[in-house]
Amino acid sequence: MDHHAVAKDWAGELTAVRHDEKTGAHFVIAVHSTRLGPATGGTRAMVYPDVADAVVDARRLAGAMTYKTALAGLPMGGGKSVIALPAPRAELDSATWRRILDVHAANLQLFNGSFWTGPDVGTESADMDVLRRSTDYVFGRSPEAGGPGSSAENTAVGVFAAVRAAAREAGCGELAGLRVLVSGLGAVGSRVAEFAREAGARLMVADIADDRCAPFAEQGARLVPVDEVTTTECDLLVPCATGGLITEQVAETVPCAAIAGAANNILGDDAAAEVLRRRGICYAPDFVTNAGGVIHLVGREILGWSADEVLARVQEIGQTVETIFKTASTQDISTDAAARQLAESNLAAAPPGRVS
Ligand code: NAI
Ligand code: PHE
Repeated sequence: MDHHAVAKDWAGELTAVRHDEKTGAHFVIAVHSTRLGPATGGTRAMVYPDVADAVVDARRLAGAMTYKTALAGLPMGGGKSVIALPAPRAELDSATWRRILDVHAANLQLFNGSFWTGPDVGTESADMDVLRRSTDYVFGRSPEAGGPGSSAENTAVGVFAAVRAAAREAGCGELAGLRVLVSGLGAVGSRVAEFAREAGARLMVADIADDRCAPFAEQGARLVPVDEVTTTECDLLVPCATGGLITEQVAETVPCAAIAGAANNILGDDAAAEVLRRRGICYAPDFVTNAGGVIHLVGREILGWSADEVLARVQEIGQTVETIFKTASTQDISTDAAARQLAESNLAAAPPGRVS
């Protein structure tokens, strides 16, 4: 990791880093923008090679959240928190994990409402219940604790709307009979895979955990090894694991007609979007497709929307994706550039708001 790059090349507002000697965990909170309101973004808990990698990850993810909330029309800005764990979460004892959550809650409290968090990779609603005992600035508690529960269902609904729009844009038409390869069959990916199967797609699945693939394989899905996801021919590639799958090099050869998924930061570098455009591969930017989660959390907990209102807003993701495809095609730019342009114009046009 280029440590110099950690301090440069980020246009965000503030990054805070804390080390906890007792657990060995590092905590990063990156507030990218409060232009539209308090920043929001999940808490990602995983092992990183170095704390600098955690800072870079938090900052990139925070930037994506700014675009995500701006394009979803929410009165919130973008941020992210990352906990660089001393060991994989499954190996931590419950006292260590509890202390990690308590330190994280204290950090959130210091931000005093300018950053609100929720679940992300490595955390879940039960963790939000614990955080909420010591800080208010938490979305996504379990229904038993008075929260709206997991955002995965609404995220999957939005991603599926984007998958269908991408298939049409790529000239493949509706999903029936298309080869749809879903990589990552977790909370979101398993639901997207199920929607695709119901729509008549020829489902292909990949996950590092065999038990996630088994139920789909039993129903006839083709299993794809995880290291062959970007070299296996399909019509639609649907990344629903972690980010960075499509680098410039991968974009040069990936054998699909369209890419649309849930994973944050699907593109591994800035050059990949342009390569996809040049090759005529239709890419639906992740910060548009996966906004169902933040719409669910902010809609239910801040804006007071009913479950039906949230669903209606999530389904609009399909139209937003279509608008982005149209702009990209009219201006002959990548879909990623078109989405960023639209987000920037929303940021510039909207009056700064505050929700608390
Ligand atoms: P999850 O943790 O439930 O599922 C992730 C799945 O990916 C697991 O089944 C895991 O075994 C698998 N996986 C990990 N590495 C893999 C690899 N290299 N290849 C294939 N499979 C691999 O996470 P969840 O909630 O389903 O989220 C998936 C992605 O969507 C994440 O990137 C997350 O940040 C993003 N996202 C999730 C939202 C939500 O509401 N849950 C909202 C917006 C984005
Ligand atoms: N982690 C999810 C995302 O990346 C959901 C989330 C959004 C969690 C906002 C907290 C705050 O969109």
